[in-house]
Amino acid sequence: MSSDDATVPVSSLPPFGPGQHLLSVSQLDRAALTSLFGLAESLRPVGQGTQVCRILEGAMLGSLFFEPSTRTRLSFESAFQRLGGAVVSTTGFTFSSMAKGESIHDTARVVSGYSDALVVRHPDTGSVAEFADASVVPVINAGDGSGEHPSQSLLDLFTMRQELEARGKSIDGATIAVLGDLRYGRTVHSLLHILGLYSKVTFRVFGPPALALPAEFFEVVSASGNRIVECDSVGEAIGPADVIYCTRVQKERLSEQDEESVHLKGDLLNMAILTQYGRPDAIIMHPLPRDSRHNSFDLSPDVDDFPGLAIFRQTDNGLLIRMAIFSIALGVADHVTDDLRPA
Ligand code: CP
Repeated sequence: MSSDDATVPVSSLPPFGPGQHLLSVSQLDRAALTSLFGLAESLRPVGQGTQVCRILEGAMLGSLFFEPSTRTRLSFESAFQRLGGAVVSTTGFTFSSMAKGESIHDTARVVSGYSDALVVRHPDTGSVAEFADASVVPVINAGDGSGEHPSQSLLDLFTMRQELEARGKSIDGATIAVLGDLRYGRTVHSLLHILGLYSKVTFRVFGPPALALPAEFFEVVSASGNRIVECDSVGEAIGPADVIYCTRVQKERLSEQDEESVHLKGDLLNMAILTQYGRPDAIIMHPLPRDSRHNSFDLSPDVDDFPGLAIFRQTDNGLLIRMAIFSIALGVADHVTDDLRPA
């Protein structure tokens, strides 16, 4: 990690572990997922407040969010503090010296001098890798433009596994419908990639033509040995699906040309569509936020009483996954079990 301003090619990243950045899901293998998920599970009582664990006491997190966020920022900050650490943060460009023209390199080097880890969200793809280049502490990618959002994929997988196991199924062999903005949705991109670690997965994807999945992701899925089917409607995509993964339209990333060609109205998925086409035991997921405005082409709140709706179990699991990520990056994962005690 020496270059001042080049982004790190994803393929050159080392496996995620103690002292390492987490920039891409490509840094994880199946064994790493098993141990991270086991760690997250052991931290569940800490997330629920029935046990405490202070393995990060004395440590400081630098939290830098240059794009709006509710759950990612607050769950990362909460995770660090639940483990005994403290947080310094800045949100938006206006209140950082980037508003005065300071570079990513200088910002990263400065804040990493005050912190033991950084969590960074930035609107430009590849920008978080630039932060990592200049940082002297591990950097966790909390979303870089339409690039990646690895911690979201980890909590998605952790939740998917939990929900499927409750139905006597597993991710291997599952059919997963992926709906919505497949072009700009970074959570979709990271998810398709990381599910390559599982076998016999069938993806059934549907997005409006202007927001269709880029060709490279069909190649990513095919290269992993999984199957991907492009569908012409939501109903066709969800029919046999064990899991339905919805996404909102990333309006903040649409160009003027996109906006002219994207005419979306109504709901992406609602109870009427689900009842007509979906399985009664389907699991519904969404990285959130969902756009609750009228005609937003998103997941309708009228599915909120559907038993398979897992969206808030996803957000709760985000805290556990992010505690596990910090434990690994800061080299204290082996001490978690010994440090757990009643609240
Ligand atoms: N899923 C997600 O990244 O949500 P936020 O934008 O609220 O962090």
